[in-house]
Amino acid sequence: MALLISVSEFWEDEKVWHQWVQSELPEIDVRVYPDVGNENEIEYAVVWKHPHGILKRYPNLKAILSLGAGVDHILSDPDLPKDLPIVRLVDVKLTHEMCFHALHWVLHFHSDHYLYMKQQLDRKWQQQSSIQPEDRTVGIMGLGNIGRGIGESLIDQGFKVLGWGANQKSSLGDIKYFFGKVQLSDFLVKTNILINVLPFSKDTKNMLRKDELKFLPRGSFIINMGRGGIINEADLLSLLDENHITAAALDVFEQEPLPTNNPLWSHPSVYITPHIAGQSNPKSSAKTIAENIRRIEDGKMPFPIYNITKGY
Ligand code: GLV
Repeated sequence: MALLISVSEFWEDEKVWHQWVQSELPEIDVRVYPDVGNENEIEYAVVWKHPHGILKRYPNLKAILSLGAGVDHILSDPDLPKDLPIVRLVDVKLTHEMCFHALHWVLHFHSDHYLYMKQQLDRKWQQQSSIQPEDRTVGIMGLGNIGRGIGESLIDQGFKVLGWGANQKSSLGDIKYFFGKVQLSDFLVKTNILINVLPFSKDTKNMLRKDELKFLPRGSFIINMGRGGIINEADLLSLLDENHITAAALDVFEQEPLPTNNPLWSHPSVYITPHIAGQSNPKSSAKTIAENIRRIEDGKMPFPIYNITKGY
């Protein structure tokens, strides 16, 4: 039995992944693409942005495991083998890192650091009056594991936190929850800092266009750390130019890597990071992946499986 790892060229050294996954699964022969060996022996594929088309070559594949929380990079393979379970990665370290990323940018905007950076360029000494966190509302779109973790860490810092999701949920502690398209505008009008952690799907594609984003109060901020293609980039740029949105921290884009001629790169109110908000940690992810493979080997369900109806 063999397991194949395939990671994107923009990621950390694949040897590190090999080492951790192999040490968690000594009973399985772990191989790194393109050193596949006998294709009939591959029973598991563990991937992040694999070269499309390769997965259909393994006739004995039992499951595809994502090396990230999202699985859109798998679903976009036009040659994806049908009817195999696709397993998302829910990993405490990844969630923790996403919380750090969110907290970093919320504080950057909340505490006026984006202004102090601009002032420094002009050697300008000007103290901005500070706003208390309880007077600032952070709205989180996508209240799964990651969105809830971010919400709780912001509540710990005293912020007001709202959440929006596609479906009704029962209880979310101190996070006031809005759901469905009908409640989207009510959610947006109350939000000063919008964080997107929604997954990409046919339902979320281009969900936030100018008409929706204009519900955000003038002077709002956006942190996109879910997926590109959900917030329309051209509309975002035009709202930044109109100063309706004050600034945006973007980690994900419609096209990645972000093309060098994309105007977002040079916009003075846009902060760009190269899809690093939640980097999967090889050591802790390998443990989660090993647990899921053992579950499958024992005839149990891995967790969480991509649900086609929910779209994530
Ligand atoms: C990162 O984007 C992930 O899906 O984990």
